[in-house]
Amino acid sequence: MLILGIESSCDETAAAVVEDGRRVRSSVVASQIELHAEYGGVVPEIASRAHVERVHEVLAGALDQAGVRLGEIDAVAVGHRPGLIGSLLVGVSAAKALAWSLGVPLIGVDHVHAHLHAGSLDREPPAFGALGLVVSGGHTSMYRCDSMVELERIGATLDDAMGEAFDKAAAVLGLGYPGGPNLDRLASQEGADERAHEFPVSRLGKDSLDFSFSGLKTSLLYRVNGTPTPGGGFEPDRPALTDDQRRDLAASFQYAAVRAIILKLGRAVDRLEADRMRPKTLLTGGGVTANSRLRRELGRFAAEQGLEIRLPELRFCVDNAAMIAGLGFELIRAGRTSDLSLSASPTAAC
Ligand code: KG4
Ligand code: ZN
Repeated sequence: MLILGIESSCDETAAAVVEDGRRVRSSVVASQIELHAEYGGVVPEIASRAHVERVHEVLAGALDQAGVRLGEIDAVAVGHRPGLIGSLLVGVSAAKALAWSLGVPLIGVDHVHAHLHAGSLDREPPAFGALGLVVSGGHTSMYRCDSMVELERIGATLDDAMGEAFDKAAAVLGLGYPGGPNLDRLASQEGADERAHEFPVSRLGKDSLDFSFSGLKTSLLYRVNGTPTPGGGFEPDRPALTDDQRRDLAASFQYAAVRAIILKLGRAVDRLEADRMRPKTLLTGGGVTANSRLRRELGRFAAEQGLEIRLPELRFCVDNAAMIAGLGFELIRAGRTSDLSLSASPTAAC
């Protein structure tokens, strides 16, 4: 079965053709980084307009690269939540028009849920039960997964998402947009000392499976600017950071952020076991799974726990449509198709 996937939730316009849920025949992503860079973040109005301008070309590119004609498509899957409404509506409208005109099923896919499928593209199906982790710009959550389509959220961030914390930390350090990859690069430079600063690793309650990154972010801010003065604002005339100081701050921030994730994954395995599920697999996904330190530590954690890890290829960590088409196949098999009243929603369903 050939599924055409469409993704337009934020600042990437993407389309892909995936066969039987896993074999990626094509994956085209048009990034809008250059349009938003001067504003230091995504401007929703600019994003929606760019999706409208690019969606046709991206779709045509995905079909062309796959060597597939539109008439050969068996179903159309679209990321319809969560995201920026104006952006989501572009993909949803394109998907509805295609599904209707081709007379094939339409499948609305939750983007956060699809990140969990990204590590299984171009690979064998994973074994279940599984523990799932999504770390992206908008979400940081863990899931109990009984199958690819049956999942229950067991923990989530109480404040910033991990990617958001990286982006804000990068801004504090004066690194350009998009911040996460820039911070990763700086922290990976030779000589970077990740133990130079002891930043807080949030634990929350003894058994909590939730995350919090705001304390870590504020610690970095105060380390860079000094503590706020009684009248508000920061101490004036602080000397600018040297390159070495900036590098060590980035490495220490990254160290603490990754430790928080590994700590909660350990607790999550214990929780699932207490609930009589011995997980076999660790499903991971979302933009931050591109982070070099997180990838290393996730690999080590999975090996220690005897879990098979599904870490997405770098091109499937950040937003893409192959994961949407892939999960779309699993949803179709579970009988979960949508009709033409499908709408966009800003919030995740999981
Ligand atoms: O999944 P994604 O593309 O979009 C959302 O669904 O949010 O994730 C984007 C996030 C951004 O916050 C970006 O800074 C972060 O992923 N990111 C990284 C790295 N690559 C992307 N964060 C840390 N290290 C990276 N190498
Ligand atoms: Zn995403």
